[in-house]
Parts: sequence; structure tokens; C-alpha cells
Amino acid sequence: MSDFKNPIIALPYDSFMAKVSVDDQESYIKHLEHGGVLFLPNLTFKIAPSEERFLSPKWSDGRAKNIYLRGNERKIRGAKGSEADLQAMSELIERYALNAKQLISNLLFDYADHAKPANTSLRCIEAAGRITSWRKDDSRLHADAFPSRPTHGERILRVFTNVNPYGKPRVWKVGEPFADMARKFLSEVPHYSKMQAKLLHMLGITKSVRGEYDHAMLHLHDLVKADLDYQQHAPQMRSEFPANSTWIVYSDQVLHAVLAGQHMMEQTLHVAPEYLHYPEASPKKTLETLLN
Ligand code: SIN
Ligand code: FE
Repeated sequence: MSDFKNPIIALPYDSFMAKVSVDDQESYIKHLEHGGVLFLPNLTFKIAPSEERFLSPKWSDGRAKNIYLRGNERKIRGAKGSEADLQAMSELIERYALNAKQLISNLLFDYADHAKPANTSLRCIEAAGRITSWRKDDSRLHADAFPSRPTHGERILRVFTNVNPYGKPRVWKVGEPFADMARKFLSEVPHYSKMQAKLLHMLGITKSVRGEYDHAMLHLHDLVKADLDYQQHAPQMRSEFPANSTWIVYSDQVLHAVLAGQHMMEQTLHVAPEYLHYPEASPKKTLETLLN
């Protein structure tokens, strides 16, 4: 794999309630908003002995990729089991959501009131060798963009914790800076059509009318995943996140791919563009600059 400046910085904290100086917090926000990864190798999420049984793919309903609590709704999805099992699973996932929220408040205080918690997931299916379409294949480098959920420029911030009980790492590839990727593919993004976007919304394919930004992000996601030469030869590095470690990324900006790993928890948060400290570094501004 070709090499480039390592975008990952390791932080020593071992608590979701870590005390962090204001200067350090600002430097972490700066790092994240410029496409960096905050890696907390000592930050473990504790699974109670009675919850260990949930670290198994057998609880999946066989349809969804993950077991998750959706945004504000918080009803468990993607799982099967008795009422009591589902309740206990929900409590585990909810506790992770609370810890992730505390981590954001302590590490990135300025985001605390603005980072809106969205889905929280428990991912117990082995990532290596999953059979799926190329578009959904997360073992290919991509920046996150979802067909049915336009963000309208809201950022996708994610907290991940590897809860693998057998000491297996989650193995990722991290790609080149967003702007370098966008420069290669932006001219291939088809023209945006408001009429088509309205139609997609009317048909219930999108949850709101897809704007120009989401249109571009979605096409970039697909163009990058479909380009096997890019997948093989673009600058990238292999990154292992060991069992019992945590990491944070803007996944709409950091090019990432998952090669292997099982048992992970994840919290998604949305940050509105007005709360970014470095809006000029955001994917939206990057695309606008490249188009002008
Ligand atoms: C993703 O591509 O967003 C998923 C990463 C993972 O499952 O580790
Ligand atoms: Fe992704």
C-alpha cells in the first residue's frame, strides 16, 4: 500500500469522562475537521458478564447489517430474541450511547450541545468476507453518504469501540485526504436535477429532498467504490484498531474501508455546519471550491 502522512493521532485517555484541557480539545476538533482520526487505544467500553452473550451474530434478524437504536426513536431494530433479551440488548446499546455522548462532551466540549445523537449500533457480524453489492461493500474505500438520508451539509461524526472479546482487532484502511479524492472524481458526477430529487422524495426513496451536496457526495461514494484501480492504487494505509480501543472520525470526510473485525459498537452524531470550527475544511466547502 502506498504511504502518506498518517492521519491518526493516539490519545492516552482511559475514561469516557476524561478531563481534557481547552487547548487540547481545540486541537482535537481541528484534527477531526481536517480529516484526522482520534484513536484512543486505552478507552474500553465495559460489557457486563450478563451481556457477553449478546456478542454473537445469532441475535441478528438476518436482514439488517447491524442491531441498532435509531435516532430519537430508540426502538431496537435488526435483532431477534425474547422481549427480555431485546430489552437487555437495548440497555447495553443505550449505555454505549451515553458513554459516547460523555466522551464528546469531555473531549470536544464545543460540540457537546450541537452534536445531535443519531443511530447507535452493535455490530457482531464478521466484516471480512461479507457478501454484498459493490455499492454496499464497506471493504472498499469510501466516504460515508447514504442514498435515503440526505444530510444537507450536516456532518457525520462517528465514535467506534471495538468490543471484540477474543482480542481481535478491527482492521481498516484509511485513504487519502478528501480533497485529493474529490479532485479525481468530481468531473464525473452527473448534473444535479431538482426535479429528479423531488421525484425520489415523492416516491419515498429519500427521507427529504436530496440537495446538490448530497447528490455529489452520493456519486463520489459510488464512483470511488466502483473504481477498482483507485481502490488498489490510491494512497492508503492499513490501520488496526485493537480490541478494547475507541476511535472517532468524520466518516463523511475520512476515506475508510473495513477489512476485518467482529463485535463493535458505534454512535453516529450529526453536527450542523454552523458549529464547525473550520468550515473551510468540510467536504461541502471543499466541493464548492473545486467547482469554482
Ligand atoms: C463503515 O464503512 O462505515 C463501517 C466501518 C466498520 O464497520 O468498521
Ligand atoms: Fe463507511
